[in-house]
Amino acid sequence: MEELLGIIKGRRSIRRFKPDPIPEGDLVEVLEAATWAPSAGNAQPWRFVVVRDPELRGKLVAAALGQGFIAEAPVVVVVCVDLERARRAYGERGETLYCIQDTAAATQNMLLIAHAKGLGTCWVGAFSEEKVRTALALPEGLRPVAIVPMGRPAEEPRPRPRRPLEEVVEYR
Ligand SMILES: Cc1cc2nc3c(=O)[nH]c(=O)nc-3n(C[C@H](O)[C@H](O)[C@H](O)COP(=O)(O)O)c2cc1C
Repeated sequence: MEELLGIIKGRRSIRRFKPDPIPEGDLVEVLEAATWAPSAGNAQPWRFVVVRDPELRGKLVAAALGQGFIAEAPVVVVVCVDLERARRAYGERGETLYCIQDTAAATQNMLLIAHAKGLGTCWVGAFSEEKVRTALALPEGLRPVAIVPMGRPAEEPRPRPRRPLEEVVEYR
């Protein structure tokens, strides 16, 4: 328990990366952890596009309002929703809500296991879906929902403040 809480609290958004490559085994374990996230009806409506190609990483920067640190990371995982899978089990609710929650849970798993392995990540959500789709030649049925650059951290940011429990929790 303590160990997991330590990993959760120790994770930071990392926006400066060393160019060192990520060991293949680490990347596979990070992706595997993503697939162990819960999903509504176990639909697993996710697709992970692993981008290493420098030119494509540059295109992701352009798609993400010029957030240059994305291309600094040796690996960038683009988390996508498979819309057909999302729709199949639960119709509109599956497509508009559950799949977003499912892929968010998968993304958080990735961030945590990456941190536990000494890798830095940042959850990037500010991007043009259309530009990402074009850059990666994604079919219409795949909706990109998060961009996750990953690599050895080249910074040690201080923790961002959290709102206190009294402010965010209600007991009834
Ligand atoms: C849905 C979502 C979208 C985010 N989008 C961006 C982004 O586009 N660029 C960025 O630098 N950070 C982004 N972040 C990271 C947040 O800024 C960061 O998690 C927050 O400031 C707390 O800092 P911490 O992750 O170090 O605890 C995003 C985080 C989430 C969950």
